Amino acid sequence: MRVLVIGSGAREHTLCWALSRSPRLTKLYCAPGNGGTASVAENVSLDPMDFGACAEWAARNAIDLTLIGPEDPLSGGIVDVFEQRGLAVFGPTAAAARIESSKLWSKSLMERAGVPTATAARFTDHSAAAAWVRQRAANAEPFPLVVKADGLAAGKGVFIVEDERDALAALDHLMRERTLGDAGASLLIEEYMRGVELSLFALTDGERIFPLAPACDYKRACDQDEGPNTGGMGAYSPPKFATPELLATIEREILRPTVAALAADGSPFRGLLYAGLMLTDEGPKVVEFNCRFGDPETQVVLPRLQSDLLELCAAVAAGRLDTVPAPVWSDEATCGVVMASGGYPDAYEKGKPISGLDALDDDILAFHAGAQRAADGSLITSGGRVLTLVARGATVTAARERVYANIARVRFDGARWRSDIGAREA
Ligand code: AMP
Ligand code: GLY
Repeated sequence: MRVLVIGSGAREHTLCWALSRSPRLTKLYCAPGNGGTASVAENVSLDPMDFGACAEWAARNAIDLTLIGPEDPLSGGIVDVFEQRGLAVFGPTAAAARIESSKLWSKSLMERAGVPTATAARFTDHSAAAAWVRQRAANAEPFPLVVKADGLAAGKGVFIVEDERDALAALDHLMRERTLGDAGASLLIEEYMRGVELSLFALTDGERIFPLAPACDYKRACDQDEGPNTGGMGAYSPPKFATPELLATIEREILRPTVAALAADGSPFRGLLYAGLMLTDEGPKVVEFNCRFGDPETQVVLPRLQSDLLELCAAVAAGRLDTVPAPVWSDEATCGVVMASGGYPDAYEKGKPISGLDALDDDILAFHAGAQRAADGSLITSGGRVLTLVARGATVTAARERVYANIARVRFDGARWRSDIGAREA
């Protein structure tokens, strides 16, 4: 099969790496790709947001399957454009991608489907939201609360507010100053849930589902979950607390009803459904759904997959998950640590030479994100999250030791990373 992957992060490098091991693969392209995808695929200079150009290129190059990595083209309707041209594509339509692109829509879907999630109030108007916050404070109802922009905000649309003043500031920020543009024109104010977070992905063809291996993501910039939210600073798989019983509960109470509700709504979801979960005292509840593979969880989940990813993704795109066996997983654990540019997630410099990748032990995987080849062939930084280094081991702790034994061998000016990824499993 001739395959095209759309995107340019470490997630897409990992997808390319996993696809490149498929005996079904004859040619792999990545658009636009990065310095890492170039080593397993041929990079093609296409803009993921130019859906017509991507579809035209896929048609002209006899692509048998296109996988869409990021949420922006998915929520903009790239899959709809491919499907209109009769091209096989892995990912949800814009209508199904609303599960990520509109938190209000997603919350309503969960409520209709009886899926456990934080209770929420919805607002499209600043004065109504502010009055609601003031009323709650006057009644001495508990904080924190969580204010969430409706639209896509690359991790910047969630505010955990400790009191009335914080809450009103978040409302001003989103609805008056419009710092996130239209994404913040509507918002949710929801119950703050306490517990441990878990990411569980499921492949679905709109009807059937195959949950993938569970993982934990670390979203805050600094150790001990301090500092600002980021795209993700590291991940590991599998967490000890993700027992078969817990996973069965999540599949039964969350994944299956959600997939059924999407189909009943007339927007069946084909692709990868990502459940971000909080394990509360009352059981697992949804924090958010995403309409795509997570980053950096993909970097630790796919190296544990023993089945053929291409076969699975082709079956999803064909709506025929019943024709392939359920995924098989390695018993080995993985631990992945993101190396970021100094300053990330705020302003950072680019163009720093990266050295030392050739000094990594042979079994360490280095998935590239903001790393690109300069004109002279050397590797330089080009983004906030630069690399995810992943190690495997008999346990998460063993994998964690391997990844941290290697990480300081990779060097670029200002490089920083969290030192506690996977530490809670020890
Ligand atoms: P999201 O972008 O919705 O994943 O939110 C980013 C992070 O904010 C999540 O990973 C959680 O750590 C936190 N968060 C979001 N919603 C809630 C909630 N209702 N209760 C507690 N924490 C939350
Ligand atoms: N790991 C969080 C995300 O992919 O959104």
